[in-house]
Amino acid sequence: MRIVLVGPPGAGKGTQAKIIAGRLSIPAISTGDIFRANVGAGTPLGLQAKGFMDAGQLVPDEVTIGMVRDRLAEPDVTNGFLLDGFPRNVAQAEELEAILVGLGTKLDVVLELAVPAEEVVHRIAGRRLCRNDSTHIFHVDFNPPSVPGVCDVCGGELYQRDDDKEETVRERLAVYERETSPIVGFYDERGLLATVQATGTLDEVTERALSALDDR
Ligand code: AP5
Ligand code: MG
Repeated sequence: MRIVLVGPPGAGKGTQAKIIAGRLSIPAISTGDIFRANVGAGTPLGLQAKGFMDAGQLVPDEVTIGMVRDRLAEPDVTNGFLLDGFPRNVAQAEELEAILVGLGTKLDVVLELAVPAEEVVHRIAGRRLCRNDSTHIFHVDFNPPSVPGVCDVCGGELYQRDDDKEETVRERLAVYERETSPIVGFYDERGLLATVQATGTLDEVTERALSALDDR
């Protein structure tokens, strides 16, 4: 299956992406994770992206789209993929359509994770990520590690993202409303949209998401 996951910051995209992609044996591709890995490694791409990320702004399309085009040319995506955090505006959605046409394929479904704004603020405030692998995501209250500050999966150190400061989160939410939320209508018009209520426990959200995929 070829899936796009969309939803505001803190909706649980990264958390659910890892679980759903694991169940379907397809790669989860997060543009945010790719940028964070490049920032951590100090690559030219990371240096280019960091300022935008720290300001809560989108990294420019010419950087992001090329990165995704290269990733979708890799052999592990031939049986499907789950994109987390891309596309993030209508221009990226149109480019993704063109990239997939070029590959002779198309999306099967766009899963929207719907969560009220006050809930995402609480989720982001308590989020902790693993330094070794930013797909290992915890929450101090809602999904706590067994030992505070230590990753259950690999023993790595847990940390708080630089862009999870309150004022940056507010900007990211505003950018989501202004730039990203229009892609929900874009995909609805194409008959691809499935909206999942992403409140409740992690397991409840996973069950809803998997049953929305089954209905396709
Ligand atoms: P990105 O990394 O994609 O950040 P985001 O979209 O803001 O989303 P988050 O990662 O903050 O939230 P999430 O939905 O993954 O939630 P999570 O699962 O962690 O992007 C970062 C930046 O990179 C952007 O600002 C931009 O600069 C740049 N960028 C990325 N893609 C780009 C693009 N396409 N174009 C341009 N720029 C781009 O969950 C959050 C917390 O809640 C966790 O602690 C988790 O444990 C907890 N949680 C999860 N589910 C539940 C639940 N059901 N109940 C309670 N808690 C829960
Ligand atoms: Mg994420």
